[in-house]
Amino acid sequence: MIRKIQVAKTSDMKENRPVSFHFGPIRGIAFKRGGTCKAYVNRCTHMGGPVDFCHTGTLRCGWHGADFDPDSGAAVEGQAPPGSFLKRIDLVEEDGMLFAFMELPEDPFA
Ligand code: FES
Repeated sequence: MIRKIQVAKTSDMKENRPVSFHFGPIRGIAFKRGGTCKAYVNRCTHMGGPVDFCHTGTLRCGWHGADFDPDSGAAVEGQAPPGSFLKRIDLVEEDGMLFAFMELPEDPFA
């Protein structure tokens, strides 16, 4: 089942300023970069910790410090397996709002 949720007003999305959202138990992180909005499941590919922007401009995991490229979601440094990626979430703008789409099981709490 594909679910759609509201992330933020498009005008509230600022460069490299993350916005958090949830699909049930799944955390998402959205941000604007180079004028384009992107979103990922906020779950590090090492052990599932949350990521956020750090001073170097990467998305850094708060648990063990793995770094991910915000443009591709690729692991670039630290504990995350080389070649792994943060899972991308599709976004669409409608009437000044930003929405995220994600395929979820019928019961995401099961
Ligand atoms: S859980 Fe992210 S680096 Fe370990």
